[in-house]
Amino acid sequence: MFLEMKHLSKIYGGNKAVDDFNLNVEKGEFICFIGTSGSGKTTTMRMINRMLNPSEGSIKLEGEDVLKADPVKLRRRIGYVIQNIGLMPHMTIRDNITIVPKLLKWSEEKRNERAKEMIKMVELPEDYLDRYPSELSGGQQQRIGVVRALAADQDLILMDEPFGALDPITRESLQDFVKDLQERLGKTLVFVTHDMDEALKLATRIVVMSHGKMVQVATPDEILRHPANEFVENLIGKDRLIQAKPSITTVGQVMYNNAVSITPGRSLKEALKLMHEKRVDTLLVTDDSGVLKGYVDIEQIDYNYNTATSVDDVMTRKVFYVNENSIIRDTVERILKRGYKNVPVVDKDKKLVGIVTRASLVDIVYDALWGDSDTTTHPAKDKAKSSTTDQDKVVKAGDDKS
Ligand SMILES: Nc1ncnc2c1ncn2[C@@H]1O[C@H](COP(=O)(O)OP(=O)(O)O)[C@@H](O)[C@H]1O
Ligand SMILES: [Mg+2]
Repeated sequence: MFLEMKHLSKIYGGNKAVDDFNLNVEKGEFICFIGTSGSGKTTTMRMINRMLNPSEGSIKLEGEDVLKADPVKLRRRIGYVIQNIGLMPHMTIRDNITIVPKLLKWSEEKRNERAKEMIKMVELPEDYLDRYPSELSGGQQQRIGVVRALAADQDLILMDEPFGALDPITRESLQDFVKDLQERLGKTLVFVTHDMDEALKLATRIVVMSHGKMVQVATPDEILRHPANEFVENLIGKDRLIQAKPSITTVGQVMYNNAVSITPGRSLKEALKLMHEKRVDTLLVTDDSGVLKGYVDIEQIDYNYNTATSVDDVMTRKVFYVNENSIIRDTVERILKRGYKNVPVVDKDKKLVGIVTRASLVDIVYDALWGDSDTTTHPAKDKAKSSTTDQDKVVKAGDDKS
């Protein structure tokens, strides 16, 4: 077992801030603690890296007793990101990223190497390494804050409401970023949040806490389907429970498999021809191994036709996408809220596997809300009842459109 917490308690002046906390975490898991304010999330997390000492109980990290370890050495093995504790303003981005590697006495060459790798991960140019935090946007600084926690190659990373203060769009993009990095690098994360959407989206397992006690430990799917009690139900909210329909759960089950894509090396003429053939106004751009790189739309081509030659010259590299294993509810909400016409779907290696369209999602929402109800007054319901299965309807929506 990677991380073992047994009978952990923390007592402040007779009150139990954490009361008999027990959790085993496997390597590579993404654990989210969620609960109301004051439920003991931060206290539990801080006991893991010995910023706080437990009043009772034991913690083992890779078999080693954390409570007997040297706290300074321990903290060098464990990455930590907290809300609003930003970058050091007087240090360059390079120095910020390599704070812990420096403490660990990595050579300068190795540190520079790592800084370059990290800046690449956040998709910023290398010369940003010499800038100061104030020269970057808030979102960029947050990204640097996240990779800083990864820079020392620590296997366990603790994050305490790291995105709490951000606007929803920056927040979503950082969530994608963290999840992607965590999966790719095989890190183990313990992540505190008070936002159920965030927990459902990120976690492999969610730990629900209330008044210092663990109320439920389960996968997002289990939490949605079998909330342990009313407290968890309220935390999830009625809307989500309605939408957590067992028959359709992941994006992969409802997407179309026929996303139209092109590689960046192709000419604009070829791109136009393909759009014409397939009757689409947007092409997804993938590299030779099928990894999603961006998209190009008809306006970009039209606008740049005389000055650019290849898809690579005009494509947009920032593209909103969802993982095939994401739960539908999440995707529905984001697409509808943000007005995307359609969204590419990728697998764990970020390879393009399909596309979900707005039209198909509308049917899914109707079905989730009205499909099982006895109401006959809602017009959507009659429409929903006319087809036999959810899958049929999704295909039909696509047929209608083409
Ligand atoms: N240093 C402290 N002294 C006394 N009580 C504390 C201290 N730190 C936290 N607490 C109490 O412990 C409980 C859990 O706090 P905390 O772990 O910060 O909750 P959360 O992170 O879930 O909001 C709260 O009731 C809080 O008031
Ligand atoms: Mg807290």
